[in-house]
Amino acid sequence: MKALILAGGEGTRLRPITHTSAKQLVPVANKPVLYYCLHSIAEAGIKEVIIIVGDTQDEIKEAIGNGEQFGVSVSYVYQERPLGLAHAVKIAQKELGNEEFVMFLGDNLIKDGIKTLVDEFKSNKPNAQILLAEVEDPKRFGVAELNGDNTVKKLVEKPKTPVSNLALVGVYMFDKNIFEAVNAIKPSWRDELEITDAIQYMIDKGLTVEPHIIQGWWKDTGKLEDMLEANRMILEDLKEGCLGQVDNKSKIVGKVFIDEGARVINSTIRGPAVIGKNTVIEHSYIGPFTSIYYDCQVIDSEIEHSIVLEGSAVKSINRLSDSLIGKNVEVVKSNKKPKAYRLMVGDNSKVGI
Ligand code: DAU
Repeated sequence: MKALILAGGEGTRLRPITHTSAKQLVPVANKPVLYYCLHSIAEAGIKEVIIIVGDTQDEIKEAIGNGEQFGVSVSYVYQERPLGLAHAVKIAQKELGNEEFVMFLGDNLIKDGIKTLVDEFKSNKPNAQILLAEVEDPKRFGVAELNGDNTVKKLVEKPKTPVSNLALVGVYMFDKNIFEAVNAIKPSWRDELEITDAIQYMIDKGLTVEPHIIQGWWKDTGKLEDMLEANRMILEDLKEGCLGQVDNKSKIVGKVFIDEGARVINSTIRGPAVIGKNTVIEHSYIGPFTSIYYDCQVIDSEIEHSIVLEGSAVKSINRLSDSLIGKNVEVVKSNKKPKAYRLMVGDNSKVGI
């Protein structure tokens, strides 16, 4: 069995962060979302992985390379434009061959991994297996309608009036019949080749599409709130440790991981929280559910329930909460007169003051 990871596309909902970087590489608990995906594929015993990349291909190739660090072998297929999930399958047909494969959306995070689901697919041998999860806002997802006997009746992509609260999770398993489907369907109203339409094609042809309702925790990390929640969920299981330095005036409470070269000076860190490589925390308070990435500085500040990306500085700020701070950002309180908020904020940003 092979794996197809979709890491192309445009991260419109995480702008401005994703103007400059791939949304699949935004870190959750200091680990890029895409790494979780590769780890769970490797854990399921899959060795051959094909990654669909778009405009952010350089960054993704640099982070993943040939896959060795994950124990898999990775090759890449370039998609010129995000023309849909089924389009991605279509262009990877040659690389996938006739083997069964799991398709994993690179911005999806499934806490319990996919091993049992892959095993189930291998033993039941349906033509396709889809994962469903109950959600509060089905309009944002592909939605499934099931028959009384729990077989799939209908799939609709982002319906205006959803017929159920069962959303399609971004992990699908297929045999070679998917290729006929992706080659037969036409682009949708949003001009994309929808995977929901391809699966519907299989259902209409009488092929077996098995639904599996997952109970564990799953997130599509496409939005800020989801990203923060994913961060919270992953940090809850954090393994504490300290590879950096903590001075004797500092206090570490609860589960905290301090990475190599990080320094904590006269500060309190209340976990779960993770402090990245070479980051400096000085005269500050880091509260629960906070991930500070590499090479950051937090000086005379308080932060909680937030994600700070690499190379950023937060100085004399009291207090920052529920925030996602991009790369190389400065959030600094200045004493210049007149006293005012001085902002240089990227397009499509959100600032809550
Ligand atoms: O997260 C689950 C949802 O994912 C499902 O419920 C929906 O049925 C499914 O269509 C999908 O919806 P999204 O709107 O969240 O998909 P998004 O455009 O965010 O793309 C998902 C991933 O696939 C993301 O990593 C980008 C990548 N992608 C997307 C498209 C459209 C590609 O690589 N190529 C593409 O053409």
